[in-house]
Amino acid sequence: MKIVLAEKVSPATLAVFKTEADWQILTHDQITNLPESLADADGLVVRSAVQVDDALLASAPKLRVIGRAGVGVDNIDADAATRRGIVVMNTPGANAVAVAELTIALMLSLGRMLPKANATMHAGKWEKKSLQGTELRGKKFGILGLGRIGLEVARRARAFGMELIGHDPFVSAAVARENAIRLVTAEELFRESDYLTLHVGFTPQTTGIINEKTIATMKKGVRIINCARGELIIEEALAEALKSGHIAGAALDVFHQEPPKNSPFFGLENVILTPHIAGSTAEAQEAVGVQIALQVREYLKLGVVQNA
Ligand code: MLT
Repeated sequence: MKIVLAEKVSPATLAVFKTEADWQILTHDQITNLPESLADADGLVVRSAVQVDDALLASAPKLRVIGRAGVGVDNIDADAATRRGIVVMNTPGANAVAVAELTIALMLSLGRMLPKANATMHAGKWEKKSLQGTELRGKKFGILGLGRIGLEVARRARAFGMELIGHDPFVSAAVARENAIRLVTAEELFRESDYLTLHVGFTPQTTGIINEKTIATMKKGVRIINCARGELIIEEALAEALKSGHIAGAALDVFHQEPPKNSPFFGLENVILTPHIAGSTAEAQEAVGVQIALQVREYLKLGVVQNA
């Protein structure tokens, strides 16, 4: 078997493949021309940077499996892969805690204006008066998407004494109850939230779900956090609402274009921007890497399909 690891993976990830003594493993630093490397490959592992489109797949006639070390598979043309009989797998859950922790960090940072406090101190200023924040305690926290990440966020938010509401057509009433989340419609979620966080995938149904119309129904002063996918938000609409003050703040880890160029958010003081790092912890990268390596190995050796 030949496995192409097209992006950097941890040593433990590599070690999983190395247990197969007769397998050829090509790491990202050994690749000069990816299509050429894929010509005789059986397995391909990527993170989020490599775009696996139909043209790339055409250069990989033997390929049987693509492993995405992470959750979102939007960098992979899954339809094209399926047409070619290639299985696409991901690792849901492996980076849920990392994403949940960043979500909470961003929510706290919005409420206490930590980026401004830090920047003004580094500039030699003592801006105590303009830095009076707000507490999370007692605030209504709307969670759109109650999958693994949404539920990890909910568990942490409870510790701050927040009132949890959530919307997810696929979650059971029992799971919501266990996590002290009141299930509401999407409309109620937008209308009632003091803080709103997005944890749904990028699908035709969720694209642009935060737009001029839905923003207009939101409570004045709401703060929005997006550690899911940039496409969920119409960026210009959000930027306008941030400028008018209808939305008090936003913390964004993901963007339509990554890295963003000429973003409407650049320079807005009530916006915190991070470069798609929600899943980037040592622990999560280790977990997604090892998990995808195990899944790809199982598939190639035994035909076992997991998280496809
Ligand atoms: C994911 O989809 O796993 C996260 O957004 C992190 C990443 O893209 O690497």
